[in-house]
Amino acid sequence: MHRRIIAPGALAAASLLLAIPASAASYSPGAPGIGDPYYPYYGNGGYDVSHYGLRLRYQPKTDELQGTATIKARTTQDLSSFDLDFLLDVSEVRVNGVKASFTHAEQHELVITPKRPLAKGTPITVEVRYSGVPSTKSAYGFTTWHRTPDGAVAADEPESAWWWFPSNDHPSDKATYDVSVSVPKGTQAISNGALRSVSSKRGWTEYSWRQDRPQATYLATLALGRFDITTSRSGRGVPVINAYSTDLGANDAAARASVERTGEIVDWLSNYFGPYPFATAGGYVPNTTTGYALETQTRVYYSPKQFAKGANPSVVVHELAHQWYGDDVSLKGWKDIWLNEGFATYAQWLWSEHEGQGTTRQLADQVYSAHPADDPFWKVAPGDPGPDDQFDDAVYDRGAAAIQALRDRVGDHAFFRILKGWPKAHAYGNASVADFEKYAEQISGKPLAGLFDAWLYQPVKPAASAARGFAAAGTPLAQPKSWKAVEAAHGGPNR
Ligand code: TRP
Ligand code: ZN
Repeated sequence: MHRRIIAPGALAAASLLLAIPASAASYSPGAPGIGDPYYPYYGNGGYDVSHYGLRLRYQPKTDELQGTATIKARTTQDLSSFDLDFLLDVSEVRVNGVKASFTHAEQHELVITPKRPLAKGTPITVEVRYSGVPSTKSAYGFTTWHRTPDGAVAADEPESAWWWFPSNDHPSDKATYDVSVSVPKGTQAISNGALRSVSSKRGWTEYSWRQDRPQATYLATLALGRFDITTSRSGRGVPVINAYSTDLGANDAAARASVERTGEIVDWLSNYFGPYPFATAGGYVPNTTTGYALETQTRVYYSPKQFAKGANPSVVVHELAHQWYGDDVSLKGWKDIWLNEGFATYAQWLWSEHEGQGTTRQLADQVYSAHPADDPFWKVAPGDPGPDDQFDDAVYDRGAAAIQALRDRVGDHAFFRILKGWPKAHAYGNASVADFEKYAEQISGKPLAGLFDAWLYQPVKPAASAARGFAAAGTPLAQPKSWKAVEAAHGGPNR
């Protein structure tokens, strides 16, 4: 069974709560979910976060994490109480400096009741003191906190924050971050953005990281362990910070040969997507056994397994493409996942063509003809795949073929204007698939509803009329050289 199935009763309870109208006369509790139909309890209602300030201390031997989160937010309704999404044990909560009462409700909800209710439009500061052993905590029967021999890693999608900081856990509420972490001397702490300082005191080292651009909660990452940290600059001047576990063994050389190309690949992608949107770039490879990579903002998470068969620049291209498609422009809701995975996969196709390993045309033809009409592959609608198929192969491959179909329809000139213009049109914000459809029609001047419907929404293989430019059924095709590397970048909880 899929690990994220939510009991139907819980769903009904959530929608009931969400449907209660805010009474004009009285203050009411903020909703326990932000209103995402895929994940009814993810995020919360009633406020909007602008900044997370985290001061943490971590002991790798015992997996104990202690911390204080200082959250700057603004209320968006009259609030009697509000929720944060969080699993660790809380010892104290203050709202605007005044002690508040709190309780852990079902699953991952922390319900906070301030001493006095909060009027709509009020700036608030919420301080949460906490501690716990994240690896012992689970919700819906799973944990995304990954222990390593030398520490731990927080990197998962769509949820990873609950195990290390209290948040409004939904991509539609982006915020800036200051993350300071104390670890025993000899251990390093890796997070997003720029490394502002490293200081040592009484056997502990404090690493202070700053993400000064809005960041979705699932794109915040933390890695604690023994790392070799490298710094460099791309040809166009983007500072690059990478980190490699000192225990990568046989995967070490291939990991470095791939991830050290970050600067070169960021510069190459900026030819297509516009200037790199963040102050730093980079990635890290911890000593984990999970198989995926994740586009954690400015500091991509790579599994050593991605490099077990040698250098793999294709996965680096995929994750760095997300810095524009996913991180700079984030999803409005989880149903919009095609805007992330379709475009990151298409970037791998462009790279394949650049490397002489198969053109985007050949890769799109491969997707279209390798899956016959009765293949369940075509049942998944990339434009709204549902929570169970959010990271299905079809979201990536049919999703990228949809982008080729768009290119075929509007022509290269309009297509590349769309590809570069989109991140600029929604810089540091959020957008939906519907927003993209409108944008593509506006830039190309062509009606595209039929094309998007066939490629993104219909649970059937697009007919030849929607696939003009694609190789006809029965054409013998040689699998492009890059095919396996492109496929290997697919993510999802089952990998
Ligand atoms: N977004 C990731 C990628 O495409 C893949 C992914 C999906 C993932 N779900 C995940 C990664 C869960 C880690 C955990 O690169
Ligand atoms: Zn991806």
